[in-house]
Amino acid sequence: IAVVEHTFVVSQVHMTHLCKKTLVTVVNGQFPGPAIEVMEGDSVAVHIVNKSPYNITIHWHGVKQRLTCWSDGVPMITQCPIPPNQNFTYRFNVAGQEGTLWWHAHVPCLRASLHGALIIRPRDGASSYPFPKPHEEIPIIIGEWWEKDLSKVGRNLRDGSLNDDPSASTINGKLGDLFNCSGVAEDGYVLDVEPGKSYMLRVINAALFYEYYLKIAGHKFTVVAADANYVSPYTTDVIAVSPGETVDAILIADAPLGRYYMVAQPVEPPLLDTQAPVYVTRGVVQYNRNHNYDNSTATPVVPEMPGMHDTMVSFNFHGNLASLHHPLRPTPMVPVRADEHLFIALGLGMVPCQVGQSCSKRQGEENFIVATMNNVSFHLSSTTTPLLEAHYYHTGRMDDVALELPDRPPRAFNFTDQALIPEGPKEALLEPTSKATVERRFRHGTVVEVVFQSTALLQGDSNPMHLHGHDMFLLAQGLGNYDVEKDVARYNLVNPPRKNTVHVPNLGWAAVRFVADNPGVWFMHCHYEFHLSMGMAAVFIVEDGPTTGTSLPPPPMDFATCGNYQSYLQT
Ligand code: C2O
Repeated sequence: IAVVEHTFVVSQVHMTHLCKKTLVTVVNGQFPGPAIEVMEGDSVAVHIVNKSPYNITIHWHGVKQRLTCWSDGVPMITQCPIPPNQNFTYRFNVAGQEGTLWWHAHVPCLRASLHGALIIRPRDGASSYPFPKPHEEIPIIIGEWWEKDLSKVGRNLRDGSLNDDPSASTINGKLGDLFNCSGVAEDGYVLDVEPGKSYMLRVINAALFYEYYLKIAGHKFTVVAADANYVSPYTTDVIAVSPGETVDAILIADAPLGRYYMVAQPVEPPLLDTQAPVYVTRGVVQYNRNHNYDNSTATPVVPEMPGMHDTMVSFNFHGNLASLHHPLRPTPMVPVRADEHLFIALGLGMVPCQVGQSCSKRQGEENFIVATMNNVSFHLSSTTTPLLEAHYYHTGRMDDVALELPDRPPRAFNFTDQALIPEGPKEALLEPTSKATVERRFRHGTVVEVVFQSTALLQGDSNPMHLHGHDMFLLAQGLGNYDVEKDVARYNLVNPPRKNTVHVPNLGWAAVRFVADNPGVWFMHCHYEFHLSMGMAAVFIVEDGPTTGTSLPPPPMDFATCGNYQSYLQT
């Protein structure tokens, strides 16, 4: 068992795309950032040196952080953000986890350029995969290229303004030939393959704004894992991946020698204006090493993509995922019953613009829009004590208003009736809501069932709901309104997939269960950056389980507090 160490220097560099030199915040000068590659059970230490002008944190998305909540990397929830010119070390291990995860900054919007893969291989080598050993493994990171200042985009979102868009989509940092700079096509990502060989694509959606469909002309994928959990192999010609999700898929180079486009196309919510720009990025899969075949000239074959509003392709993709039962990979059993039930309606609400609030710029307007869960919107006000610290030391947070996440929305209505919102949310339909530190506390070992219900208020957006520190069993998904009478009967209690990010279909619902057995304060939120920044979030506090020896240890010796950083922190 090794300790894998990395140093991440966060700094701003210039990169040029679309004829424009843009200042981007990246790790070690790279976009996407460096991949961390470890084996199951390894310990990881990452030293962050912050040379950027921003306060930042790095989150290890999908790493369970068992008894290491202190390293989860969420500003003012698990730690004080790292100010410019300061350092911080994250330490955690990856015991019991295998597959593709990723890391990203967890401050508003900067994750668009601060992210990379986190790959966990089996301890006994690639030959112990529960599928034939691939010839090569390739991370495929779908992202976005932003020319706008991302920290400003973050502030705009917090102020309820939704007018910023990325400039392009990317595969492994390349824009592809549908984007051009004064008529010269941008480079696309190129994957060279050898005829007959198999490639394991580790697909990560690191985008802020869009779910994507990924397709390669002339080829099929066999999906073998999702969110670093093996699934029973499923063959498909299209992969659907929401922000935060990962998919491992085997690609076999079995097509005629040639060049084939690999296309990542955003999924547009069906209720949104059809004029929305489409940021399709494409790379090329090309056959090589063949003596009489010159791959430099052939025009690549174009795949036929699903319609940009065809959300059923995503619904079916997610519905086809099932946990793999394999003799070498025992799967935890789904708890047969839940101790607590939450029904969480995902929506929008409005709050009055008031003194000193982030919406001060919009004074004169009476209200501004926030994103909600059960009509409460998440907001942190303390800049001195992270929630985890307050929880661990049992210190109150006098400066903050905490609110318990209710079990159900205040008002049941026809959540998914599109007729409610013919052309975008009407202020009249939005209900007054409150902003608070929305939290929910669980006794150690509680089995929690959550039904996430999306609503027409979101104009048909889906919701990738992410829980830190735990995997969730995805029991079922459906379209329309969840109906406890009939939908419980549809739960998969045999082999539900385990996910850290659950795709809640647009105008539909998803039901999950998880065991709250990892002590700490865990963020739970929509992984669309605009929903998150607007408040679609809550914290789940999991208490210690002293009788089972699972109590959160004290923070590491060198753990920096806001007090340590005081003179450096800026807002
Ligand atoms: Cu990948 Cu809290 O996020």
